Amino acid sequence: MGKILVLGGTAWLGREITRQLVAAGQDVTCLARGRSGGVVPGAKLVSADRSLPRAYDAIRDVHWDEVIELAYEPQLVAGALDALSENAKHWILLSSISVYSYQGHPGDAEDAEVYEPVDLSHYGHAKVAAECASSRALGERLLIARPGLIAGPADGSDRFSYWVAAMARAGNEPIIIPPTTGRQVQAIDVRDLSAWITRASSHRLTGTYNVVGTAYPFAHFLEAAARVAEFAGEMIMAKDDWLLGHGVNYWSGPRSLPLWVPLEDYGFSDRNNDKYRQAGGQERNLDQLLHEVLEDEKARGLNRARQSGLSRAEELELLEALRETR
Ligand SMILES: NC(=O)c1ccc[n+]([C@@H]2O[C@H](COP(=O)([O-])OP(=O)(O)OC[C@H]3O[C@@H](n4cnc5c(N)ncnc54)[C@H](OP(=O)(O)O)[C@@H]3O)[C@@H](O)[C@H]2O)c1
Repeated sequence: MGKILVLGGTAWLGREITRQLVAAGQDVTCLARGRSGGVVPGAKLVSADRSLPRAYDAIRDVHWDEVIELAYEPQLVAGALDALSENAKHWILLSSISVYSYQGHPGDAEDAEVYEPVDLSHYGHAKVAAECASSRALGERLLIARPGLIAGPADGSDRFSYWVAAMARAGNEPIIIPPTTGRQVQAIDVRDLSAWITRASSHRLTGTYNVVGTAYPFAHFLEAAARVAEFAGEMIMAKDDWLLGHGVNYWSGPRSLPLWVPLEDYGFSDRNNDKYRQAGGQERNLDQLLHEVLEDEKARGLNRARQSGLSRAEELELLEALRETR
């Protein structure tokens, strides 16, 4: 049994990683404020605010077999490295594919260029800063995992799940979609990602890995969602400029078409995952994932207010406006 510290562990991904580590028989402690939720049964919570001085005092002298860092705010990452890196045998930093500065090449691997971390309020820059600080402090004891879009039941960001939910919501009626040509969808299920982190921890894996699934053409992804949702309506495509002109946003957030990215950012949803696969990374079947996500969406309510996507009222209004232009 290993002694593992999860910096986080009360939110979506951290909880799933903790759940799998506990199930694998590890001795897991989570350090968090407890604002995002509790820890899974079998794990211990050390309650602390990492933005405050002395946040790590209660655990500073513990020797950890593994530390798993889920934060990216530079001051939180730096504080943990200062307090804990000396006594850690191995360290896993959850980074992101948002570190890459250029999104125009499909299939780029881990050696692609990353941002110069000059603006730490920018998510990608902050993640690069976290990677650099961790590398400096830990050297060969570090694994950097760069997940792409994380999908699965209970995702609070509502991005991946939007399409299958929007189709189930519409039933036999039309939905609005962006142009699909030249666009991809690439995600990793939260449980598959956590299984790999658990495995990587037990194998003391080091280096940098894109943790992403297969990149599917957007049209293929929508067809799979339609099959799973038993959607019998029409998919009505609106052009990029028309959507942007009508206040529809790319990728995520209110009044967005989730997973839609600018055409020039083609490579964002098409990162190379050869290293992940060679290191035992698994990926569930797309239809299975969509089924699981749809069950969760139905349980949460197909017409609930979402973090990302269009409400049905917004979608109908846009469809009406589109009809008038034809
Ligand atoms: N979602 C995606 O598609 C995606 C893609 C790529 C990478 N990622 C990365 O995956 C990770 C997601 O982690 P997650 O789902 O577990 O959620 P999260 O919301 O990023 O987790 C933050 C964790 O840190 C704790 N925390 C935040 N501020 C703190 C403070 N001042 N003191 C102590 N603890 C603090 C939170 O707990 P309390 O609030 O309870 O303190 C929570 O457990 C992140 O690193 C994210 O950047 C996500």
